[in-house]
Amino acid sequence: MNSTIQFIGRFHILILHLPIGILMVTSLAMLLIKITKGRALSALKPSIPILLSLGTVTVIFASVLGYLLSLDGGYAKEALDLHFWSAIALAVVATFITIVSYKYKQLFDKLSYVWALLLLLFVTITGHAGGNLTHGETYLVEHGPDFMKKAVGMELELAPPNSLAEAQFYGHIIKPILRTTCVSCHNKSKKEGGLDLSTYTSLLKGGRTVAVKPNNLEESELYKRITLPHGDKKFMPTDGKKPLTPAQVKIIASWINSEAKQKATIGSLKLSDKEMELLVQETSFSAHKVIVATDVDVSPLVEKGFYVNALPDGYGLDVSFYPEVGQKLTMDILQSLLPFKDQIIWLRLSRNTLDNQAMTIISQCTELKKLYVDHTTITDITGLKQLNNLELLNVYNTPEIPKNQLQELKKNNAKLNVVE
Ligand code: HEC
Repeated sequence: MNSTIQFIGRFHILILHLPIGILMVTSLAMLLIKITKGRALSALKPSIPILLSLGTVTVIFASVLGYLLSLDGGYAKEALDLHFWSAIALAVVATFITIVSYKYKQLFDKLSYVWALLLLLFVTITGHAGGNLTHGETYLVEHGPDFMKKAVGMELELAPPNSLAEAQFYGHIIKPILRTTCVSCHNKSKKEGGLDLSTYTSLLKGGRTVAVKPNNLEESELYKRITLPHGDKKFMPTDGKKPLTPAQVKIIASWINSEAKQKATIGSLKLSDKEMELLVQETSFSAHKVIVATDVDVSPLVEKGFYVNALPDGYGLDVSFYPEVGQKLTMDILQSLLPFKDQIIWLRLSRNTLDNQAMTIISQCTELKKLYVDHTTITDITGLKQLNNLELLNVYNTPEIPKNQLQELKKNNAKLNVVE
């Protein structure tokens, strides 16, 4: 790429504002003159052909620079084509109207609102297509209301589900997997193999081949590519990127085999026990329905001395017991956690007198994601193996816990972060 061409081409971004400004103002003036039958802006009327010429010249100039800029590469072909052809159409229309304004004055005056509207239309289309090209189609409405996002084909971000059963198979489970491993090469502007994996619609549309054929793994190129031997040159992801885990591959297979729908929830599909088990292990969604925390009467806990908060994302409870307040955390008090065991997501019992008996109660809180039992005298944490949802375990300063128990726990639960 010749750097002089590159240098000149980039001035497109500067110059393009001239034709937009000139042609917009000129067509608005033409409309106003027409509507007011010459009472407004009549002094401007003789200058209209000159303004149109100026607009046309700048359109052509900006188009040439735009062409040079496009040689730089890196633009999505479809978006570039639209901008390219609409700019050419605009140049032709503007030239034609300018000629009419000089040569066929009567016709020009008679139909001046037609010319003005034509110019406005083509300037808008060209300008908008150019904007989409640099900023992406979703830029304008990215922070706009949902109906606008839907109108441009954006997928709305889903709120986290209250339970695995309520999770949407595609939106909550498949999409995040593809986003992490595949979308860097398969998105709107970089479509390797013609394939965009960033939205459901584009995924189902496929690339050069059918990426996903519902209920048919053999004809789903996407599935073929992720199940090839890792050394195969068609294996996905390419370039030695971190492959999907065997569990993720199985989950994608379950999704394709259950019709590969966009909005179907896990609860609405007839998945086998094995498939469900895998989803429970691999996702952080609660296997039980967690009751929305604001609906729960937590006063029995508060009366016993617990501090209880609803979690910020609106479901589940964050429960703490602070020994500083002076009360001792007895088994009797701990028992009062049990009626809430399906709603307790965070449990902080740091610095309390906790013994192994306490563990029998804690290990029944199967929805737990965070557990703080640091600075306690616990010696046995084998019961925590049942807590499949656990993501954080703080056992700092609990020297009595055997190291092998911690290792075992980590081996069992890949999601688990242990603070030792
Ligand atoms: C590092 C870039 C990169 C990543 C990451 C990547 N791909 Fe690809 N993908 C490519 C390239 C390049 C091609 C085109 C060459 C080919 O067909 O092998 C392609 C082609 C494909 C095709 C064939 C499209 C068609 O219709 O011909 C599928 C399906 C596919 N990829 C799926 C995936 C999936 C699923 C992932 C994530 C697990 C993924 N890719 C991750 C680069 C990548």
